[in-house]
This record gives sequence, C-alpha cells and structure tokens, in this order.
Amino acid sequence: MADAILDYVHSEVLPGLPGPERRAASTAIEVHTDDPYVVQVGPGVLDQVGSLAGDTSRVAILHPPTLRHVARRVAGQVTGETLLIELPDGEAAKTVAVLTDCWDRLAAAGFTRSDLVIGLGGGATTDLSGFVAASWLRGVRFLNLPTTVLAMVDAAVGGKTGINIGAGKNLVGAFHEPIGVLCDTDLLRTLDRRELRSGMAEVIKCGFIAHPEILDLVESDMTAALTPASELQTEVIRQGIAVKARVVAGDLRERTSTPDHVGREQLNYGHTLAHAIEQREHFRWRHGEAISVGMVFVAEVAGRLGLIDEALVWRHRTILEAAGLPTRYEPDAWPELRATMALDKKNRGTTLRLVLLQGLGVPVIAEGVDEDLLAEAYAATCR
Ligand code: GLY
Repeated sequence: MADAILDYVHSEVLPGLPGPERRAASTAIEVHTDDPYVVQVGPGVLDQVGSLAGDTSRVAILHPPTLRHVARRVAGQVTGETLLIELPDGEAAKTVAVLTDCWDRLAAAGFTRSDLVIGLGGGATTDLSGFVAASWLRGVRFLNLPTTVLAMVDAAVGGKTGINIGAGKNLVGAFHEPIGVLCDTDLLRTLDRRELRSGMAEVIKCGFIAHPEILDLVESDMTAALTPASELQTEVIRQGIAVKARVVAGDLRERTSTPDHVGREQLNYGHTLAHAIEQREHFRWRHGEAISVGMVFVAEVAGRLGLIDEALVWRHRTILEAAGLPTRYEPDAWPELRATMALDKKNRGTTLRLVLLQGLGVPVIAEGVDEDLLAEAYAATCR
C-alpha cells in the first residue's frame, strides 16, 4: 500500500537550496478519474490560481466572511470579471436558501457555461460551492481552495458536493469534480486549535483505513501534527490526500463495494454515527469531533465481532484522545442516534451498512449487525 500511495505523489524540490532548506516546496497529487486533476499541497500554492483559471470571462469566488481578504487576493490573480459571494460560516452555508441566493447572484452576473466557480474555505464552503457549480447550467467549471486541514484531506477532493436538509446531512447533492485543488498550507496558520484537532480526525481516519504510516507519524509527535504548516503536519496531510486520491480514483461514484473489496464507502469510516451526532447537536460539533466518537464506536463494534483485537480498539481511543478529540457521547442518546442512522446514505433498503476494520488498513462492510451488539458497542463508547 505504501508504494501505491507514493505513486500518486510528486514532490517538487526547491532547486539550489542547501541542507535542510532543500525540502519539498509543493507536492502534486494526481487524482486519476475520467477528468483527471491535480491537488497541489504546500506553502504559497494559492499563487497558482491564475494559471488554473486560464482565460475566463467571469469568476465567482464563494467564501465565508473571515476569508474576505484572501478572496480579494485570489480575485487579483484572475482575468475577467470577478464576483465575490459571501457565505455564512460553516454548515450554515449548506442550505437551500443559500444555494438559491447563489443561483440568483450568478444569474444577475450573466454567468455562462464557460465561467468558473471557486470555493474558498472549509469543508462546508467547498461542499456548497461545488454544488452551486454542479447545478448552475447543469455544471460549470469549479476550482477548490480548501483552507482547513479537514477540507484539504477530505471535502475538497473527490467531487462530492451538496447541502443539508432537515432530515439529514448531505442528503441532497451531486458528484462534480473540480478542475484542480490548491491546498496552501500557509492558510492553516490562522486556524484555531479546535479546528486543527477536528482536521486531524480525518487524517487519522486515513491512517486506520488505508495507510498506517500516518498513525505512526502522528503518534510520534502529536504536537507537531497539530502545529499548522509544520513539516510533519504537511506530510500527514499529503499522505491523507494521497489515500483519498487513490480511493476516489477507484470508485468515484461510490458504487463498487463488494464483500471482498470496499470502494469509496471506506472513506465513511466512523461517519455513520458521526452524522447522527452532528444532526443531534445541530452542527455545533465539528465534523472531526463527531467522527472521532464515530470511529471509536465502529472499533468497538469490530472488536465485539472479533474482526480486530483489543489493542487496535484501544489505539483508536488513545490516538484520538491524544489529539484532544472527544471519544465519548451521551449514553442515553442511542435510540435517537440509531433512528437517525437508519437514513444513512450507505444503507440499502432497511439494512444498516457500517464500515468496519478487519485489521489495520483493511476496511470491510458489515450489514445487518445484531442490534444488541450495536447498543453494547455504543455503551462501551460512552464509558
Ligand atoms: N467524505 C467521504 C467521501 O468523500 O467519500
């Protein structure tokens, strides 16, 4: 697996620099889908917006209010008319009302099929922006500029776009791949600790499902892993993106899971319970916080099914707690959470499908797990 991951990664080394400064300036990770694109990771890669945008008549830059100054910097790089659209912060952006407002703004600007939408922000911003691009005129070009660890490692890569509705998270959306993704690690320097920890949950997830070296690196120096733009953090982000690139290239539309091979669904490790917690908390919990609890839950399920040993169950708890992430939730909430989980997108008919591990880096789909076992695993998660 390690070699397969590295196949996706090409580092550019700064020429002419001596010793330790001769480090990777940026890394290009290729996403080999039908319309292949590149994820650039490193300091200053935002400066590549102009060359990616090309000669475009109109560019809409969708961003939260806190990133107005970065949006202006991006606008300065593109040719043609720019339209800066401010979105509400976080999940509040992923609503029908915000979506229709964006359509109205594009209509007023005369946005055509040859124009470009740019999503600049965290995962909620890139999800909404991608759906605006997917739905406007049945699909216009889209460029992703993720500004959080979580968005870089997960949301911005792989073409899943969408919004939330009252019944659940991400229930309405489309697959619409970006033309490129620029992960400028300099932008991580202003993130708060909570956001950095939340992002680390998606990084750790990639370690458990596909690339255990990530876990070794994070465990070797958690402080560095949580330090924005540190070499170690950049490295685990790069490895996490390489995992995501490989998985989505193999199963872009999440269709190819079989009993012997889990496709894109493996990226939802820990997400089934997490989405239910996020909904119950009205999205006051960060996504990474919820998947942290969700990963401990599925580890407890897998442990009870004899798929993984106790040491691996504990490794989930210890690494996530070391990252400052929650690993417990309210013991009495199970009936409500279980009811929400019934609407998870992975389910088929009335059968709950869970992504579990049957070893480190070996995901498997479990269907129809005994309800008492699920409740016991949840109780153990809350202890
Ligand atoms: N976040 C899960 C996926 O992209 O499939």
